[in-house]
Amino acid sequence: MVKKMFIETERLILREWTLNDVADQVEGLGNFETAKNLVVPFPYTAKNSVEYIAQHLKNTADNYAFAAQLKEDGKVIGGTNLHIFVDKNSGGIWINENYTGKGFGTELWIARAKFAFETLNLSELHNGFLEFNNRSKHMQEKVGYKIVGKSSMFCPALNRDVVEILTKLTKSDFYEALKSSAKLKAIYDKINIIENADD
Ligand SMILES: CC(C)(COP(=O)(O)OP(=O)(O)OC[C@H]1O[C@@H](n2cnc3c(N)ncnc32)[C@H](O)[C@@H]1OP(=O)(O)O)[C@@H](O)C(=O)NCCC(=O)NCCS
Repeated sequence: MVKKMFIETERLILREWTLNDVADQVEGLGNFETAKNLVVPFPYTAKNSVEYIAQHLKNTADNYAFAAQLKEDGKVIGGTNLHIFVDKNSGGIWINENYTGKGFGTELWIARAKFAFETLNLSELHNGFLEFNNRSKHMQEKVGYKIVGKSSMFCPALNRDVVEILTKLTKSDFYEALKSSAKLKAIYDKINIIENADD
């Protein structure tokens, strides 16, 4: 277990999941347009959510999961996770379909990278996107991710195997991306990582 922490972006608070988040998580991940890009059970039920949250109530040194809560009204509109293995890491992000296209995904990707590189001192992040997920591809490339390979996986929402394009973000490519975009740098500058927050 690690000390409680929060990540604050301009419009979001990223914090540990609680069982009060079940309805918001089911609303977000229960949507086919979201789930078809992810490896989550489908249909995504309250039972799935309770099981996930029960396993992710507290972050540990190799497994972080954050609910993305709107500062404005407290609604959880997305999530992100980061699982650290000895030689690799994995995880991803999602935003409730009703809130996409408003820049929240970009805030979340940058917050995740800042946390990984500056708090956890990782040197690279490993991700991916399904071959038809042009939005995620665009977002990842925007913040500096490079394509490094291909894999195959089963997507429950589509009920078939799909091709995953594997990506990697190095610390230096992330900082290069921030240097080349004042907009991304402004988002990055507003992100605060609050470590060792009191329980
Ligand atoms: C991918 C996802 C996180 C993006 O979240 P979002 O809040 O819509 O992201 P943003 O609004 O910050 O940015 C979306 C970007 O994609 C672009 N975009 C939208 N549709 C696109 C498409 N079909 N092709 C390419 N780019 C697209 C937008 O123009 C925007 O880019 P810009 O900021 O350079 O203009 C969200 O759509 C999602 O959760 N999807 C389902 C789950 C998922 O795919 N997760 C990632 C798994 S790898």
